[in-house]
Order: sequence, then C-alpha cells, then structure tokens
Amino acid sequence: MCGIVGYAGSGEAQRFLLEGLEKLEYRGYDSAGLAISSQSGVIVRKTAGRLERLAAELGARPVTGITGIGHTRWATHGEPTTSNAHPHLDCDEELAVVHNGIIENHAALRDELKSRGHVFRSATDTEVLAHLVEESYARCGDLQMALAAALEKVRGAYAIAVISRREPGKIVAARLSCPLVLGFGDGENLLASDIPALLARTRRIQPMKDGELAVLTCERADIFDREGRTVTRSNLVVDWEPGAADRGGYPHFMLKEIEEQPRALADTLRGRLDAARGRVNLDEALWEPGEIQALRQVRLVACGTAYHAALIGAELIERWARLPARAELASEFRYRDPLVDSGTLLVAVSQSGETADTLAALAEGKRRGAGTLGVTNVLGSTLAREGGRSLLTRAGPEIAVASTKAYTTQVLVLTLLALYLAQERGRPLPAGGDFWRELRGLPELATKVLAGAEAIRREALAFAAWSDVFFIGRGTDYPVAQEGQLKLKEISYLHAEAYAAGELKHGTLALIENGVPVVALVTQRAVREKTLSNILEVKARGARVYGVIRENDAEAAGIMDWSVSIPAVSDALTPALAVIPLQLLAYHAAVARGCDVDKPRNLAKSVTVE
Ligand code: M6R
Repeated sequence: MCGIVGYAGSGEAQRFLLEGLEKLEYRGYDSAGLAISSQSGVIVRKTAGRLERLAAELGARPVTGITGIGHTRWATHGEPTTSNAHPHLDCDEELAVVHNGIIENHAALRDELKSRGHVFRSATDTEVLAHLVEESYARCGDLQMALAAALEKVRGAYAIAVISRREPGKIVAARLSCPLVLGFGDGENLLASDIPALLARTRRIQPMKDGELAVLTCERADIFDREGRTVTRSNLVVDWEPGAADRGGYPHFMLKEIEEQPRALADTLRGRLDAARGRVNLDEALWEPGEIQALRQVRLVACGTAYHAALIGAELIERWARLPARAELASEFRYRDPLVDSGTLLVAVSQSGETADTLAALAEGKRRGAGTLGVTNVLGSTLAREGGRSLLTRAGPEIAVASTKAYTTQVLVLTLLALYLAQERGRPLPAGGDFWRELRGLPELATKVLAGAEAIRREALAFAAWSDVFFIGRGTDYPVAQEGQLKLKEISYLHAEAYAAGELKHGTLALIENGVPVVALVTQRAVREKTLSNILEVKARGARVYGVIRENDAEAAGIMDWSVSIPAVSDALTPALAVIPLQLLAYHAAVARGCDVDKPRNLAKSVTVE
C-alpha cells in the first residue's frame, strides 16, 4: 500500500520524485524518502512522517542528480520511523531499493544474509531485497540480472525499483501482485505505483504485468518477461487531464471530488444510454454470444465503499434481470467454498483495480469457471486487465482516501449493468419516459443536491460534537446508510453504525436515548411508511433524527428534527443522489473536528495487502 516513483531523465530527479510522491501520498503517509544516483554515489534522504517534512529538508539541502527513486510508506513490517523509511541501502551504500508489497519469507532471508555478514539497519522486510541484490550484483555486475536473480529467492508481493552508483543513469524495476506503471515522457522515462503521479509529465503509459521487469534510462524504457525476453505492447494514452490530480483551489481533494460528481456521472453515462429508446449499450464488455442468456446467477465481490455499491448492484440485477444476485465482501468470498461455476457472472468492483482481496476473489471465481467482469476506475489497472473484460467508471483520478465520486459512478455502472442484463435476457425494463429521463438527467440531479451543501455544512457542526451516530434505511437506502456511516467513521473518527431500519428494534434500540443522533434515509417509496414507523420508534426514545428524504415529502420532513431533500426520482435511482448529503455531512464534521480529511489516520487508499 505504499507508493513508489522513479525518474530517469535529464532534469532534476528530486523535483519529479517529490511531485510524484505528493500524488501518491494517499497510498500511505507514515514516512517518505528518496534516493538519487550519480557517479559519486547514491544519496538517500528520508524521514518519518509526512512528505512535507521530507520536502522541507530537501528544500534546505537539495540533492542533485538526474536519476532517482522515491517512496511514501504505509507501515506493515517495522514501525513508522526514519530508519524504517525507504529507500533501503545495501551494506556498501552503493545501491538503493524502494518497495511496495510484502516479502513473506523475509525473516528466513534476513537470517541467511546476516550469517553471510550483511548488516541490517532497519526492521523492514524490504531491506532483505537490498542485500539480496547486493549479493547477486557482486557476482554478475549487472543491475538487471542482479534484481532478477534476487527476486527468485523471495516469496510475496512487490513493486520494486532499484538504482546503483555503478549504473548511475539507470533504474531497474519489477512487479508481482502490486501495481507499477511506466510513463514515457519527452527525454525522460518514469515509473509510479499509480497514474496520477505521472500525469504532470505524460499521459503515455504502460502498466507492467506480474513477473515483468523494466529497465529505464532517459532514452528508453524496456520491459522484459520472466525469461528475459523483450516485451512489446502498445502504450495506453490516459484521457485524464493533467490537472485532474491537483486540488484545484479546494481545501481538500475530498470536497473537490464530491463536487465533481455531476461531471463524473455524465462521463460515465456517455455512449452507454439511449434514453429515448429506453436501451442501454454495454457491448463494450465484449460478451460471448448467448452468454448473458445462459447465466444462472451473478456474484459481486468488493471491499469497503465498492462493496456498498455492489449491494445496490445486486439488488437491481435481481429486480430487473430476475437473476439471483448477491454481493459479498471479497475478503470473505475468497476463503469460503462459494457456489460459483460456469453459469455465474462474477463482477469485481474496485475503484483502484488493485485491491488485493478483490483481485484474489476474482481469481477464485475464474478458477471455478465463472465468467468475470471488472468494474474499475483505473485504465490499465490489474482488474481492468485481468477482469476478463471491464467497464470503466470514468470518475477521473480519486485522490482522497474516502471514496466519493468512485462510489456514485460505480452505482451508476452497476445500474446500467442491471438494465443491460435485463434487456439482453428479454426481461421487461422500467416502463415510462420518467425513469429514462431521470437516468439521463442524473448529473443535473446531482448538481441540484449539491446546491444544498451550505445547509448541510451548518448542520454538520452539531455532528462534530457527538460520539455515536446511527444510520438507518430500508431497501437500497440501507446500503446507502452503510456508506454514510463508513464515510463518517473513516474521516471524522466518530463511531457510527448502520442498520436496516426494521432491525433496530431487535437489539440496538437499547442504545437509543435522549439526544442520540439517528440519520434516517427515506427515499424508497415502496417502504416509506415502514421506515417512517421506525423513525417514530427511535423518536419516541428521544433520538434526534436527521433525514434524507424525497422532495416535497412534508410528512417525513414533519417528523424529523432536520432534513435535506433529494429530487423525487424513481426508487432505483436514488442511491447515487442520497449519498451526497451523507458525504458532505461526513466531510464537514471531519473538518469541524480538525481531522486530516484526505489522509485519515491508519488508512491508505489502495489496499494491496490482505
Ligand atoms: O480501490 P477499491 O475500490 O477496491 O477500494 C476498496 C476500499 O478499500 C475503499 O472503498 C475504502 O473502503 C474507502 N476508503 C472508503 O471510503
């Protein structure tokens, strides 16, 4: 879950490395460091804490050189101290290594290396890589061969980059189960754990595949397979704007990304909907003839926010396509013995396309013969490549750890998928022009919801003072409630729980007393009266109820202590709108509590470990 960058060019490496690390800080921010090579040696600067500390040190004492590697850390092995920060050096301080991933057999390797006289300076698993490369380099004198030989001894996952004093203009990198993308600039070649770090320099990229090794100099970047043969494949051109990964004047990425949702929804819809004819076009996923008709079930696997989107997808698939559909936590699915076979469509949902558990669940589904589909936001990500086929969410880069625009676009893609499966299976689609007009108009409807942001900001100040918050909803309001509580927890550190509204009285009602805040979602007409009864139950016990309701629902507004409304669209289309007030509530509560909104404690955006 760390972020790594590399620069081989003719400009100052330090500048790119710092810029790139800043874009990757969402992957971890326990410590940061860089190493720059020149004939006179490899200079390392690293420090515990945020990147800004490293930047301040480098501002006072810059490192010059045109080839370098950098790292921002989310600690797994070893505390977040300066000595455990990457890069790590070999015994002679001639080569430096940055690494994202976990070396599982590090303890045995460390013992072996120590017995051969190597001196360790950190408690990390990564440092064994530096010493292994050192040993093989001493034998073969070639950095590429040395890294390949070292990697044969390790078990685990890695995106790794190495530089050496003896080959100063060169970076050698390799990937196994952790993302690594090459970028091709003008007279410079780059690498990074994720595309946003490259965008300021290039949009021409090449995601590396498992088992591949790359050699970068300012003139060229070559990829090799496990057998050392050159790999050639066309580069990808990302359509994200260079500024898309900047804060653009917003105090936080999260607020920027919340406000980008109308644009993200519009991009996600483009070319996929013929609202006038009531048809959806997802042919881009390249289905086999007859495949959809032969399906017997759909399973969706995902983690965190993506799982909440998957819950909504499953509900809509069952509703419209009349196929049994179930969303599961990827981390549970992979260790069960799930009933999945060739009659199953396994849909893996992941913003980053790199979440380890989701990728493992996908692999498990494939192993059992399921047809697979990835829903991801990142072109060229592992999920986009290995999902069998993929549907992109087109949200643009999401930098804040708390997912917002990725969620709404995942919900939209899954809604389209549910409609498409129904259409291709000859099931009746929602009738009447309203539904299709509303679906096409979702971006404008989201803009309308965002117009109420100021009222939500004022109310969020009250939330900041609480310690426990409950969220309730029925139907698809329940997964939206789950998403609302996750947002609040992860960025404001307030304790929050979500319940299906009818479930509260089976135990949790005991916790409701005077003044306890309950956020109630009442956007599903089909279960509206039931939810209103549940609200009255908590009100009768003294709860203070905050509602997300449909426009003009005076009765619901009347029983709430405070409410915000969303446009009164078809029940199936409310999840992408109802979540927006909850995102804003969490954001403003976190700001009021002085939390680090974009980089909440202990979390990293892309969870590439189990
Ligand atoms: O990249 P993914 O969508 O696979 O990430 C899954 C979760 O880690 C992610 O949604 C996480 O729950 C977010 N921080 C929630 O805001």
